[in-house]
Amino acid sequence: MGRPRSVRDADVAGKRVLVRADLNVPLEAGGIADDTRIRAAVPTLELLLDYGAEEVTVCSHLGRPDGPDPAFSMAPVEGRLRELVPDERLVVLENTRFDPREKTNDESFARELADERDLYVNDAFGSAHRAHASTVAVAEILPPYAGLLLERELEELGKLLGEVERPFVLVSGGAKVEDKLGVLQNLGGKADQVLIGGKMAEEVREDNPLDFDVVLPRDVVAASAFAADAETRVVAYEQLPDGWLGLDIGPETRADFGTRVRQAETVFWNGPMGVFEWAPFAEGTKAVAEAVADVDGFSVVGGADSVRAVHEIGLVNDISWVSTGGGAALEFLEGKELPGVAAIPEA
Ligand code: 3PG
Ligand code: MG
Repeated sequence: MGRPRSVRDADVAGKRVLVRADLNVPLEAGGIADDTRIRAAVPTLELLLDYGAEEVTVCSHLGRPDGPDPAFSMAPVEGRLRELVPDERLVVLENTRFDPREKTNDESFARELADERDLYVNDAFGSAHRAHASTVAVAEILPPYAGLLLERELEELGKLLGEVERPFVLVSGGAKVEDKLGVLQNLGGKADQVLIGGKMAEEVREDNPLDFDVVLPRDVVAASAFAADAETRVVAYEQLPDGWLGLDIGPETRADFGTRVRQAETVFWNGPMGVFEWAPFAEGTKAVAEAVADVDGFSVVGGADSVRAVHEIGLVNDISWVSTGGGAALEFLEGKELPGVAAIPEA
């Protein structure tokens, strides 16, 4: 696999550059719950400005809106980005998913994004598994280059693609179940153990589509309703009362997952174990984060929510690589070609 052509080799002086970043950050009460992805986008923007670009326009999607929706406006993200990169040559576009043509990889939308711009830099590793107008179609119109974050992600995650030190433990959770199961099916075969928590565990338990053994939660923190202040109870999974919801893995499972992860020489963790934004359901994710950080070998954490958890607990420096990719990291590790990367010519 060759490397995509790098922004470091682009001639950007006096040019107007379109940058696709992944600024799809977790939101909370109208604000940004974790700015990791925004900070991760900064080095490429600074490089372009340092190299004398005339204008640097950044675009990204945010959330999964069905059209224009003020709840998914880029305004708070733009505000944070401008604090980090206070340069008047910076332009920030509105959420690319406000336009239905984004997700259909529509050429006319890509032309609008490319209009009056000279080159395109894709730094959105987290979105590289999406063949959308701002990640793929636009690369047919403007000369495309890979951003610094995209390059680094490919390099670090690439280490997991080759021979890995074993045991290799994979931990997966989170809410985007439909995106992840198929990927796990292919990736799981390579791992010595696959631990599944979060919403995904429920689906796998009901109807396991995976053709290898997985380790599922034994107990759960049950909640009377989907609310931060719901009544809670720790129960064995089969004893979940009718109408109650399992919103975190229970203490027995925390201990079990923790032991298995700590035995790993290589670990990849993607997706929280429960609704960790709410304190009563944060312990499972915290336990996994701590175990991953304790691994002496190569540890990688991916996905915006897991990354947020790792930051909140203060463990970033104990993890080998904190990836900005969730689904993209999984697909890359599965060995799939990422459309956003494939659209950039090799160096
Ligand atoms: C992510 O958060 O994994 C990426 O930003 C992609 O978002 P999506 O799953 O909504 O396409
Ligand atoms: Mg460590």
